[in-house]
Amino acid sequence: MFYQRPTLSKFLIEHLRGAPSEQDLSALLVDVAAAVKTIAAVVAKGQLHFRGEAAPDRATVNVHGEVQKPLDVLTNEIVLRHCEWGGLVAGMVSEELDEPYPIPADHRRGRYLLVFDPLDGSSNIDVNVSVGSIFSVLRHDTEAPPGPRDYLQPGHRQIAAGYAIYGPTTMLVLTVGNGTHGFTLDREIGNFILTHPDLRIPSETSEFAINTSNERFWEPPVQRYVGECKEGRSGIRERDFNMRWIASMVAEVHRILMRGGVFMYPRDTKDPKKPGRLRLLYEANPMALLVEQAGGRGSTGRGPLLDVQPESIHQRIPVVLGSHEEVERIERYHREF
Ligand code: AHG
Ligand code: MN
Ligand code: MN
Ligand code: MN
Repeated sequence: MFYQRPTLSKFLIEHLRGAPSEQDLSALLVDVAAAVKTIAAVVAKGQLHFRGEAAPDRATVNVHGEVQKPLDVLTNEIVLRHCEWGGLVAGMVSEELDEPYPIPADHRRGRYLLVFDPLDGSSNIDVNVSVGSIFSVLRHDTEAPPGPRDYLQPGHRQIAAGYAIYGPTTMLVLTVGNGTHGFTLDREIGNFILTHPDLRIPSETSEFAINTSNERFWEPPVQRYVGECKEGRSGIRERDFNMRWIASMVAEVHRILMRGGVFMYPRDTKDPKKPGRLRLLYEANPMALLVEQAGGRGSTGRGPLLDVQPESIHQRIPVVLGSHEEVERIERYHREF
């Protein structure tokens, strides 16, 4: 019966039972899940309650130079409020905060760092296309409050990562280091139910995702790869390809976890100051861990994303991730270039 399917809490107890050092991790992920449920409710209200764009005289710009939508700001607040009080987190980094967020003095600090993108794909909010939230959990094993450098940990040091996707259903997809698992929100009982255990990404695919309006700025290996996909069997590839671009990374990665594919936001020459569009700590690293835990591959195009040593908390990075065979081909083209 539906009420017998494993909930997120039951899953976490079972998967973390053998890891006493992570006993608080379950509690933190339950707090994150509560924040996600609140965001799902807020996003679903749409413009019944929230203007898509801030009034021009009240618009604010984040550290990336992006005009913040009211929901960018509100979802950021929701995550901070849900996760600051439980004594589990020592500090937080958000796409929407210039500096790391220190846990208020009247709250106990914990041993985890929470790094997150509270609303991914926010340009889609006004056109009612799926958006999401992305999060990553790192360790902080000292009593001292974390400084910016404590967040600069390579992606393979993540102890948990996940995203929520607010689409026709709200789903939470996460890893605690042993596989990638999907949970669907049952709104009637308010619980996340394990509906997609042990997700596996097919190694082969016939779908690629890239913003082709940037084609003239791509490096030759990417132009070569995408050109071959577009030629399909009339060129050297053994099958024809389909292209997708949703402009919500969460939706692209979710499609890849469900049926395979390759997602690229590669280095381009459009803005020499930006080596890539996406942010390493709270977009690329959590997504790369989820994809690799599902048998896929996460790369900068030149090497594993999870090995990159971050240099700043809002650092951008080129991203190529998804079906193993395709990502390896793209890396080979970079080596041959
Ligand atoms: P965010 O909304 O958190 O700023 O992230 C948007 C990102 C990512 O979700 C998406 O893949 C990419 O921006 C889309 O970029 P383009 O608008 O250049 O296509
Ligand atoms: Mn943004
Ligand atoms: Mn994002
Ligand atoms: Mn965002």
